[in-house]
Amino acid sequence: MSDQNELKLFTGNAHPELAQKVAERLGIELGRLTVSRFSDGEIRVKIEESIRGCDVFILQPTCAPVNESLMELLVLQDAFKRASAHRVVPVIPYYGYARQDKKLKPREPITAKLIADLIMTAGADRIFALDLHAGQIQGFFNAPVDHLHAAPLLARYYVESGLKASETVVVSPDVGGVERATIFSEYLGSGLAIIAKRRPAPNQCEVTEFIGDVNHKTAILVDDLIDTGGSALQAAGLLAERGASRILACCTHPVLSGDALRKLDASPLEEIVVTDTIPIPQQKRIPKLKILSVAPILADAIRRIHCHQSVSTLFETNSQ
Ligand code: R5P
Repeated sequence: MSDQNELKLFTGNAHPELAQKVAERLGIELGRLTVSRFSDGEIRVKIEESIRGCDVFILQPTCAPVNESLMELLVLQDAFKRASAHRVVPVIPYYGYARQDKKLKPREPITAKLIADLIMTAGADRIFALDLHAGQIQGFFNAPVDHLHAAPLLARYYVESGLKASETVVVSPDVGGVERATIFSEYLGSGLAIIAKRRPAPNQCEVTEFIGDVNHKTAILVDDLIDTGGSALQAAGLLAERGASRILACCTHPVLSGDALRKLDASPLEEIVVTDTIPIPQQKRIPKLKILSVAPILADAIRRIHCHQSVSTLFETNSQ
């Protein structure tokens, strides 16, 4: 590691459990700070140790409560910048507001760009993110973005569980996810199927087309996130109708808002594999939910970024 600029890892209130795992993996203590609220709800940050000249990584997914998590990240960045950190690097395992990444209708915002602007203004020197909703979001930041994927971790889980590639079809639940599903099917050496869907209203979806053959096959739905569960439910219903023998699903970000898990629990989905980019409270951990940790990927990448080493090898291996 660079001996000039000490590596320090801090976290806000969004996902301290993941930050702790990453710190352990790095062999360091989490940095000491207090993130609390003033009586009117404003965020108060106090860094409890000197970080002058340090390489500061702030791990904070911008997950629910989304606006609180985001604002904490911004205030933290400002505090570290003003305390003379050498570099401030937000580590954003889940980047919220990302699905509004273009104007689909007149008079709509592009929040993925707005949030990127806020993060830049708050003093980010570079960004480290995992499975952004769309790769192009990297271009919304005026700084280098290290963008890693959970696909190798998820795919390895299926390989190790003994899934046979010739009997498996990876399914993209929408056209926007075809590239992701293609890469996933290449990891597994399996077939590919594609569902086309439309959204008649926000958070609602309808299947319109299906390309592929899942009859007597194990179908694995691959998505970047599951939110209301609507896409996964519609897709699972269709795959059952098309004769899939087993229907599995995986995603990187378990947003799982509202009663998504209750609906998924009652669906034909046999297993849902997710990662821990977003905390999942104990009461939501239903038996068919399998959680894999991204802490090793995050720790490896943080170490490499700190040492000015390439992170591209992690795309292939995500070494444990
Ligand atoms: C869509 O573009 C995303 O990749 C997900 O498929 C979608 O956001 C999942 O949302 P929900 O679970 O609410 O259908």
